[in-house]
Amino acid sequence: MRLNWGMIGGGEGSQIGPAHRIAAGMDGLFTFAAGALDADPARGKDFAQRLGVSADRAYGNWQDMLEGERNRPDRIELVTVATPNATHYPIAKAFLQAGFHVLVEKPMTVTVEDAEDLVRTAKAANRICAVNYGYTGYALVRHMKAMVARGDIGKVRLVVAEFAHGHHADAADADNPRVRWRYDPAQAGVSAQFADCGIHALHMASFVIGQEADKLQADFASCLPVRTLEDDAMVNLRFSGGTVGRLWTSSVAIGRQHGLTLQVFGETGGLRWAQEQPNQLHYMPLGKRLQIIERGEGNLSPEADRASRVTVGHAEGMPEAFANIYRDLADTITAQNAGKTPDPAANLFPKAEDGLRSIAAIHAAVTSAAAGGAWTDARPPMFR
Ligand code: NAI
Repeated sequence: MRLNWGMIGGGEGSQIGPAHRIAAGMDGLFTFAAGALDADPARGKDFAQRLGVSADRAYGNWQDMLEGERNRPDRIELVTVATPNATHYPIAKAFLQAGFHVLVEKPMTVTVEDAEDLVRTAKAANRICAVNYGYTGYALVRHMKAMVARGDIGKVRLVVAEFAHGHHADAADADNPRVRWRYDPAQAGVSAQFADCGIHALHMASFVIGQEADKLQADFASCLPVRTLEDDAMVNLRFSGGTVGRLWTSSVAIGRQHGLTLQVFGETGGLRWAQEQPNQLHYMPLGKRLQIIERGEGNLSPEADRASRVTVGHAEGMPEAFANIYRDLADTITAQNAGKTPDPAANLFPKAEDGLRSIAAIHAAVTSAAAGGAWTDARPPMFR
């Protein structure tokens, strides 16, 4: 049975709204039933109706949506929060407390305290609070995780993660309001580029190697001097299983596009995946030739086979990766509604605990950078 789904933020012209709508619609598991899509109530109502939401469920703001949905017999089961960062916490908390499942965009919150509170709130309400590290939905990212877990590259020694683009490199464009807010502490919080992009790379590294960041040291730079917050960061890490981590994130790397890549080096092999060529995974077994694994080849791993949507050789990309997060959520919610144990294969979506770990890492990196790169505990207080 299809689940009713709603969305807050992601209005017309937003960056990430369309990817959510495509992803949620891809498998026929969700009906787009309600929305408060825009900071401007009239624009939000109008856009929601043009997308097929009925007039009485096209809301002007999230508070009206909460009240409108709360007591409906056909109320939404899952709400996606795709608004600017500082609003994630109050919206996610209110919907969790009212018994809705939530998929919140990253960064989950601005402060560690709020992130810990969301973890506790979700647990107390027995609801899912997922976080959209959607790039872990790529079939070959899930395959990397499976290869590492089954020992294909031996014990992991080193992970190198990058998320470096060049879209904020133009000094003449630094005052453009769409760029400037990201570097304004009042609107962005304590970190710009690491919080915006670096945490995707960090979460993916943790996801693939199955280890959490224990401690880190960070060097933050504002390559454009007009910026208060960093536009480039280099972060060294130590993970819970002893793996060494290197992470570079930048918004001034001219010529780089999305720039998300992950390399994992173990005792008996290495792996390399780049989001801009997501259908190929480079696998180098020690002492042998480089192998290029194609998404959609049969019998890669149960995780990759489940996440692969079109046959080998056809391009598959980012909306399909996000759709894998939505399908995991639909399968898990449907099982819970039926009183059944959810399929463990659907349990790969990022959780509130992952969102919390990222926020703790952001604050640790800011602290470290301010202390000249001192090693700093990266674990959230509640997990120490
Ligand atoms: P955007 O500025 O392009 O769009 C934000 C949308 O939210 C606009 O339609 C705006 O009218 C609406 N909005 C703002 N306040 C609202 C409110 N109180 N109630 C309802 N709607 C409201 O922002 P963008 O780039 O789409 O980012 C949104 C969130 O998604 C951010 O937290 C960002 O970090 C995250 N993001 C995640 C990505 C991912 O790969 N997972 C990629 C891009 C953004």
